[in-house]
Amino acid sequence: MSELTIIGGGVIGLAAAWRAAVHGHRVSLYDPEPGRGASWVAGGMLAPVTEAWPGEEDVLRLGEASLRRWPGFAAELAAEGVDPGLAAHGTLVVALDSADAGQLDILAGFLHSLGREVESLTGRAARRVEPGIGSVRSGLLVPGDLAVDNRKLLLALEHACRRRGVTFHSTRIDTLEEVRADAVMLAAGAWTGRLHPLLADAVRPLKGEILRLRPRRGCLPPPGNTVRALVEGRPIYLVPREDGELVLGATQYEAGFDESVAARGVRELLEGAERVFPAIAEYELVETAAGLRAGSLDALPFVGELGDGVFAATGHHRNGLLMAPVTADAVVAWLAGEAPPDEVAAASPARLRERERV
Ligand code: GLY
Repeated sequence: MSELTIIGGGVIGLAAAWRAAVHGHRVSLYDPEPGRGASWVAGGMLAPVTEAWPGEEDVLRLGEASLRRWPGFAAELAAEGVDPGLAAHGTLVVALDSADAGQLDILAGFLHSLGREVESLTGRAARRVEPGIGSVRSGLLVPGDLAVDNRKLLLALEHACRRRGVTFHSTRIDTLEEVRADAVMLAAGAWTGRLHPLLADAVRPLKGEILRLRPRRGCLPPPGNTVRALVEGRPIYLVPREDGELVLGATQYEAGFDESVAARGVRELLEGAERVFPAIAEYELVETAAGLRAGSLDALPFVGELGDGVFAATGHHRNGLLMAPVTADAVVAWLAGEAPPDEVAAASPARLRERERV
């Protein structure tokens, strides 16, 4: 049994804490506000296929490895007492204008070439899948890309951690010297770069704004699937929640560590969403929020040992919720002195040392 200290209580830190505790390790987790940050703001898509892009095959492989783990992960978590709200619906991607349709064709061609289960649709066929959507040029149906209710998930993880004896500390950790343990895991998201010199300019904040809406009386209900759209080159997504809420995301831009919601972000999201799903204009706007994704140098996270008993689990970019189960498995393997899952190899922080040598 090891003593594991985790810095950061977002979805990655909580998932690893829970799994490590289940495997018999003594776990302490440091975060002034566990279960908040980018994980609390997230849309909850578990969507390696519709996030894929040519040249990012390693990201797809890692994301799919984690998606395969999701049903078991969610079931085991539910058995700890709180259901994390894994939804069974798939994902429909739509393109609004001809340039958007061209982008979608590239994605479809790439996915077909890899043998992934995707169905290309005309605009009319896409509307048959989701009658509430507006006029679109084309679509892509991906039944395997799922979603989870991020907030239920975080509550479920925290509950499971406490049940398994994880100790929570509300101290904010700014330097590694402040913690002592056999093993330390860095999972402070966009802030992780401050904790280790190798990560200092490898992890950066990527701001995202998101809105939560709810149909008012008489409104068309939210779509049944997650709907992703390219609206004149701008990607947005609409993720329905079981309780009737609709999550609309997300902007993506660099703004340092600013976590305020900009009016421009709200306007862009609503303008785009109204063209994709016109009924949204009559919905109640329940919440606006912003979070900071942990961007990495490439699209891959950093998952692996940095040296001296310090393990990095950060830089998950747009895929933190998706990649939580496979990241947690990598941490548990490390604690046991075993190799991580095969797909994690590409995410090794060893690539940072290679970069230093060049
Ligand atoms: N996973 C979607 C986003 O980061 O906005």
